[in-house]
Amino acid sequence: MNLLIIGAPGAGKGTMSELILKNYHLVHVSTGDMLREAVRNSTPVGLKAQEYMNRGELVPEEIIHDIIADRFSHSDIDAGFLFDGYPRTRNQAEDLDSILKDMGKKIDCVINLNIDDEELIKRITGRRLCPACGEIYNVYSNPPKEEGKCDKCGAELIQRKDDNLDSLKVRLSEYHKNTQPVIEYYEAMDLVRHVEASGGIEEVYGRINSILEGLC
Ligand code: AP5
Repeated sequence: MNLLIIGAPGAGKGTMSELILKNYHLVHVSTGDMLREAVRNSTPVGLKAQEYMNRGELVPEEIIHDIIADRFSHSDIDAGFLFDGYPRTRNQAEDLDSILKDMGKKIDCVINLNIDDEELIKRITGRRLCPACGEIYNVYSNPPKEEGKCDKCGAELIQRKDDNLDSLKVRLSEYHKNTQPVIEYYEAMDLVRHVEASGGIEEVYGRINSILEGLC
């Protein structure tokens, strides 16, 4: 299966991806995670991307094209993929189509997480991450057992630099302007399954899982 998961900042793409991967053998490709790793390692890509990300703006298209083309050069992706946070512009969607066409692959389903903008404030400002194992928490809806510590590996939890109200405003405006047209692009191909993303984590995952079971 080749899947895309799309949704506004904080809609739950990372959280739902983690649950999907527990049940389906897919390669997870998150452009946000790849860019954050590049920033942490101060690579040339990371140094270029950092300021855009901190402001909540989309990173320039050529950077995204290069990291995606490089990712497709690894053969693990042949097992099936789950793209999270990509494509985010119509241009990226067309670029992905052309890469997939060259490789004789196709997208099977686009999961679109629907949620009102107001609900995203607590999700974004309350999010905490484990820098060691990547586990995602939320101080309001999904807190760790011990405050500030990862349940899985005990590392000190961190907050993303762009998880503040100013960046969120910009990220939401980027999402409505650039990413909603991507949903329309895939709707025209009849690939989109809309999922109500408010409600508890297990509840939302249940909705996704019933779609995926129908595809298998
Ligand atoms: P990216 O990392 O993709 O960020 P995003 O799209 O803003 O999405 P988030 O990671 O913030 O949210 P999410 O939907 O994964 O939510 P999560 O599951 O963590 O991108 C970051 C930046 O990189 C971009 O702004 C841009 O600069 C750049 N970038 C990345 N890709 C790019 C591209 N293709 N082109 C150009 N630039 C690009 O959940 C959020 C919180 O809510 C968590 O605390 C979680 O515990 C909680 N939660 C989740 N689900 C539920 C639920 N059902 N109920 C209650 N709480 C929940």
